[in-house]
Amino acid sequence: MLQHKGVTPIEQAQNKDDSSTATGNKIKKNKKQYAMKNYVIESLPDYFKQYKKSIKNPKKFWDKIADENFVWYQRWEKVVNYDMHEAKIEWFINAKLNITKNCIDRHLAQRGNKTAIIWEPNDPNEAAQHITYQDLYDRVGKMSNVLRAQGIEKGDRVTIYLPMIPELAVAMLACARIGAVHSVVFAGFSASAVASRINDSGSKVVITSDGSYRGNKTLDLKSIVDDALTKATGVGKVLVVKHTNNEVKIQEGRDLWLQPLLDDAPIENIPTIMDAEDPLYILYTSGSTGKPKGMLHTCAGYMVYIGYTFKNVFNYKENDIYWCTADIGWVTGHSYILYGPLINGATTVIFEGVPTYPEPDRFWSVIEKHKVTQFYTAPTAIRSLAKETTEWVEKHDLSSLKVIGSVGEPINDEAWHWYNDHVGKKKCPIVDTWWQTETGGIMISPLPFVTPTKPTYATLPIPGIQPVLMDEKRNEITGNQVDGNLCIRFPWPGIARTIWGDHQRYKDTYFSAFPGKYFTGDGALRDEVGYYRITGRVDDVIIVSGHNLGTAPIEDSINEHPAVAESAIVGYPHDIKGNALYGFVILKDVGESRDRDNLRKEINQLIADQIGPIAKLDKIQFVAGLPKTRSGKIMRRILRKIAEGDFNNFGDTTTLLDPDVVEAIKNERIG
Ligand code: PRX
Repeated sequence: MLQHKGVTPIEQAQNKDDSSTATGNKIKKNKKQYAMKNYVIESLPDYFKQYKKSIKNPKKFWDKIADENFVWYQRWEKVVNYDMHEAKIEWFINAKLNITKNCIDRHLAQRGNKTAIIWEPNDPNEAAQHITYQDLYDRVGKMSNVLRAQGIEKGDRVTIYLPMIPELAVAMLACARIGAVHSVVFAGFSASAVASRINDSGSKVVITSDGSYRGNKTLDLKSIVDDALTKATGVGKVLVVKHTNNEVKIQEGRDLWLQPLLDDAPIENIPTIMDAEDPLYILYTSGSTGKPKGMLHTCAGYMVYIGYTFKNVFNYKENDIYWCTADIGWVTGHSYILYGPLINGATTVIFEGVPTYPEPDRFWSVIEKHKVTQFYTAPTAIRSLAKETTEWVEKHDLSSLKVIGSVGEPINDEAWHWYNDHVGKKKCPIVDTWWQTETGGIMISPLPFVTPTKPTYATLPIPGIQPVLMDEKRNEITGNQVDGNLCIRFPWPGIARTIWGDHQRYKDTYFSAFPGKYFTGDGALRDEVGYYRITGRVDDVIIVSGHNLGTAPIEDSINEHPAVAESAIVGYPHDIKGNALYGFVILKDVGESRDRDNLRKEINQLIADQIGPIAKLDKIQFVAGLPKTRSGKIMRRILRKIAEGDFNNFGDTTTLLDPDVVEAIKNERIG
């Protein structure tokens, strides 16, 4: 049997008894441990009570939740250490755990035959897979042993570039089991984006597949990885899942088909004992420079926070069937397709396809087919499906639904009502959940059947979360019916601990604008009863179809075009995508004679090659100059207004260097 080196006494003890430790620190056996009842908020007064407690004594609050609802090898010595000025945050100091014990092993006795994952393939004629907790244990054990046999050890990084297939979940859990740090890259990113993420994380192994299906399209993921590996270094092995039977090149000595290795691997796998603050995963998000930010989440705090928020925000009950339509390549998938549901012993649906394939009722047909009780999706998907005739949704029985959710961008009033009327049939609370890759889990959201909802409002903070609104002068804005920059005052267990390899950037990005507080980059308003509504980004990030895109990396790509001198990207409102991208581009040669439409295509191709098709621009206007301040800063505010077609509200333009530039751009705006 494959085993990692040196099984420690703690591990031996762990194998005998999930609830004890070898240090003699017997963790209280708690019958409710598996029921996860201890942390459910049942009513509004209860919410306020819990919230008050969590603010008055956050240490006590999280200590109790962590103690009563999770399995640990060793208890913590202290609940939290933090210095918000230095961006240093640690939770559950010196606790020992493995998150996969909490996601899988501890459920086996009572839920071994319960379905953990329902996999719904792209093709509705292909059978869905029902993977029980026992199957998941077996598959993760085998995958863990394969990774160990490939030389992956605790702390090593593994890049995962897979479609939405069960192997994606299994690979992530296997990494977590052996203490490797997974870095999942969304399988819509280009080879260059994959390469920069492999290099930045220093991954030794890549796990990919021969291809992916999305609707009626297939994508050859393996050749994207091959291409990425001509630009990335340090990868010794590429493990390939056979999925589409696409023909792929296998490079001798580097590439291995995964299935034969899994077939030969034993199931039993002793999890690696992880410290509370050992890295669990890296997940890249856009930033204000071309380099993506590898947000690092660690083991214990993340587990506690995701477990707690999943249970409360979705009101998950034992026999529910929960479905989040996000891609696991984004944080929503990490936290609320994989870890949150499994920590709670839930059944989670993983859907490979797209909402419109084979017809625009795929979501509704999957809800009906699997009797989904909680459905969690993005406003952009709601808006695009709301464009279709309501017959698509009405022809399906959606009566299994109890709670419906929204994430990733502000949900507009019209989309909220359509979702409420046609999907929730006015009986399912909509949980409009605000959070970020950086926050790890949901921060502001109604709790279903507890918090009265209000269209377009994320409503109230989760217990333990202290939102504050700040003005430009760094003063806190108190009272209600106010708006400002959204910050968080006290650390919570799920917050990312750093940017992989660049703590200074982490500190500068999130903890310096408003010293002593975490700055979200979002603006928000607080209404007369204290409900929050997120108004959108106040920085250089634009949310397009729920995807978080930084302007800088896109501008860097455009500027690489040989004909381009400079560019600026802004977002403008779009019916379906929420925001779309408008690019203002200065050409090097003012007399450039090449066809403008060809240049536009080339620029978009460059963006697709370097980042991915999601970052392509909807409109590209060639301009002679950009509105700048005397110090050379682009006044994006003005460009935003022009892109929106609003020429009257440019705000203060006294610092504008050359007002004629603005006139010229206005005149040639693309409508
Ligand atoms: O601007 C906010 C928006 O999405 C940003 C975070 O993006 P990302 O890290 O990719 O994570 C997305 C999934 C959690 C936020 O800063 N956002 C997310 N949820 C909402 C939202 N804006 C308004 N309402 C929401 N419910």
